[in-house]
Amino acid sequence: MVFFQIISSILVLFVLILLARYIWGMFFDTNYRPVEWENARKKGLISKELIRLERDYPDKVRFFNWWFQIERLKRDGVPGDFAELGVYKGESARIIHLMDPSRKFHLYDTFEGFREEDLKDETGEAATYTSRNFADTSLELVRRNIGGDENVVFHPGYFPRSVVSGQDDEDRRPLTADCRLALANLDADLYLPTKAGLEYFYPLLSPGGVIIVHDYNHKWPGIIKAVDEFMTTIPETMVMVPDMEGSVMIVKGK
Ligand SMILES: C[S@@+](CC[C@H](N)C(=O)[O-])C[C@H]1O[C@@H](n2cnc3c(N)ncnc32)[C@H](O)[C@@H]1O
Repeated sequence: MVFFQIISSILVLFVLILLARYIWGMFFDTNYRPVEWENARKKGLISKELIRLERDYPDKVRFFNWWFQIERLKRDGVPGDFAELGVYKGESARIIHLMDPSRKFHLYDTFEGFREEDLKDETGEAATYTSRNFADTSLELVRRNIGGDENVVFHPGYFPRSVVSGQDDEDRRPLTADCRLALANLDADLYLPTKAGLEYFYPLLSPGGVIIVHDYNHKWPGIIKAVDEFMTTIPETMVMVPDMEGSVMIVKGK
């Protein structure tokens, strides 16, 4: 009996320590917050919602890389919309949208997970994926998560076919040659959509605009292949981002 009391007291103590550390980290642990973010926050330039999302977002480097890039685009007056390929439930899309809600934001996803035609030749981590992965979402759920703002434009369907389908439907409006992009966030996990995304979005980028590709690491050989192949066709050099999954960035030359 005494033994069980001691064990349960130790467990309770352990949980209390974890909770105290979590709460302390939420409010006082500012080491990982860049000084420019803190300055903007103190001046009231960052929305409460974005401050809350930053606290909960596990990959701080990825989060602040988006923020610094978007602040640079504002400061340098780089014109154009934002786009994301690989939206899932809209977590990254919500963050990017809140960082500059004044930009039109084009979201590309099947909103029902991967397609067999993309999966069949994959290796590495992606070879363990099936069409059931990332299928637990929907356009309606993403619309709710993002807040249903009129600047958010949905392009549902298989990418890249979704860019040309349903031209009469405003929601599926394809980007045209006169539509410029300032930022494209690519997070589709697989070789074929990533390659198609680079080929589609890069020519639409304004000078100074940026493409950010997630998962450039050994677990995702399809992403490395797509990026490396594409880099041989353009004059820019890619920049590695030391976030948790290793993003890379391409900033379009002026
Ligand atoms: C890793 S999830 C995106 C996660 C999201 N960016 C986030 O951070 O919350 C990858 C997404 O890519 C989408 N996707 C992959 N290949 C696609 C294709 N060819 N066309 C459309 N969507 C695709 C999947 O449906 C899935 O939702």
